[in-house]
Amino acid sequence: MKDLTRRQFGAGGAATAAAALASASMPRFASAQTHAESRQFPQGFLWGCATAAYQIEGGAAEDGRGPSIWDTFSHTPGMVTNGDTGDVADDSYHLYKEDIRLLKNLGVATYRLSISWSRIFPNGTGQPNPKGLDYYSRVVDELLANNITPYLTLFHWDLPEALKGGWQSRDTSKAFAEYAAYVTKHLSGRVHHWMTTNEFSCFTDLGYKDGTNAPGLKLAPAQVNQVRHNGILAHGLAVQAIRANTPSGTQVGLAENASTFVPVIETPEHIEAARKATRDENAPFLTAVMEGKYLAKYLALEGANAPKVAPGDMEAIGSKLDFVGLNVYTADYVKADGSPSGYAILPRPASYPHMAATWINVAPECVYWGIRNVTDLWHPPALYITENGCASDDVPNAAGQIDDTDRLMYLRNHIGNLHRAAAEGYPIKGYFLWSLLDNFEWIAGYTKRFGIHYVDFKTQKRTPKLSAEWYRNVIARNAVE
Ligand code: NOJ
Repeated sequence: MKDLTRRQFGAGGAATAAAALASASMPRFASAQTHAESRQFPQGFLWGCATAAYQIEGGAAEDGRGPSIWDTFSHTPGMVTNGDTGDVADDSYHLYKEDIRLLKNLGVATYRLSISWSRIFPNGTGQPNPKGLDYYSRVVDELLANNITPYLTLFHWDLPEALKGGWQSRDTSKAFAEYAAYVTKHLSGRVHHWMTTNEFSCFTDLGYKDGTNAPGLKLAPAQVNQVRHNGILAHGLAVQAIRANTPSGTQVGLAENASTFVPVIETPEHIEAARKATRDENAPFLTAVMEGKYLAKYLALEGANAPKVAPGDMEAIGSKLDFVGLNVYTADYVKADGSPSGYAILPRPASYPHMAATWINVAPECVYWGIRNVTDLWHPPALYITENGCASDDVPNAAGQIDDTDRLMYLRNHIGNLHRAAAEGYPIKGYFLWSLLDNFEWIAGYTKRFGIHYVDFKTQKRTPKLSAEWYRNVIARNAVE
């Protein structure tokens, strides 16, 4: 039934597929005919929120934490808007119980957070710092006491400063696997879902090619490709290390901002173009991870600059995953153009609408097509949307309320597309809204607010925005209007 439905939609036979959905004794969610009333998600669908360590924790020098490249970078004049740093951020290091209360009030089933590597290993490797692990152990206990399932990311960009050469060195990939083994060994009795890395291109390309993110380098193409390779190698070695150190049943995946492509019109040739674009444009990252090899055309294109691959690397990189997490915020539209690649990525008209973080061009279909392209290409056993959300220019009104109607519009449309993927039988298991609360938005500092809770960074007071109330309602009904 599932495959039939998907094929029929894929072939553009939406009406037939909708009829098939309606007549089948399948899921307890609505068919296309009842969209107007309410779009019900499958029972057990996991609603959650996401955050990351450096963006919320603060406590930068507390309990033996070592510096990360983001401490160094944010303290370098001119790198982050207003000279903002993550020294204090949301002070979640101290206020985590309050933040878990916010999660509880939303009614989420799950919470995605990341671990600061340099809290656990202040020097990146060597001697662990027990106080670092204790902190995450307390957070996990508090989540479990509130019936919230933790999903832990091991690396969300805050690389220990002490690691010589950073991602230029493959020793860093090995150190990451050791850190992953240590953490998962100690927490796997209570934590069953792990993500290795977050967004390859952001910690490799933005940090080592464009120089806009930490560590702020602009390397030559061959070196950049090696950095990318070390990034995906770290993921692969960590998957192996986690498998070796945790009980069977432990779920391992990653959170990846794969470039997402939407067919400009839903006809077979444009759908095929979007699939081809997904495979080719993600060649150094997700494609290599899912296929355990670099595409021949990627290697040919890079020529002498192609990454140097040691024996065993690709096998590690291609380690089977239990799930793929997609961070999806926007997309490009593609069409079939008869060219050798089979697709053209359409330029955006200047009038194309965007959100307050201007790189988020509004393309709500990104959620559906992100899930569908990845599933159709690689058939992972499960997928999650590990991040989706937007920044708004939130300003409290006279009564102190934040009516973030633009964020509401964004979320409603994206979650609507999430529903489409679930209704068509794609194996999408959950959704993590970015973000639980306003936080340190990397080079934009505190100027871009992505939270559904407003944070007054002077007092650390958290206030639910209208979007928090809306999301609570979605979760309670397990449906989107
Ligand atoms: C993706 C990143 O993982 C997260 O850290 C960031 O804050 C959001 N995108 C919004 O830019």
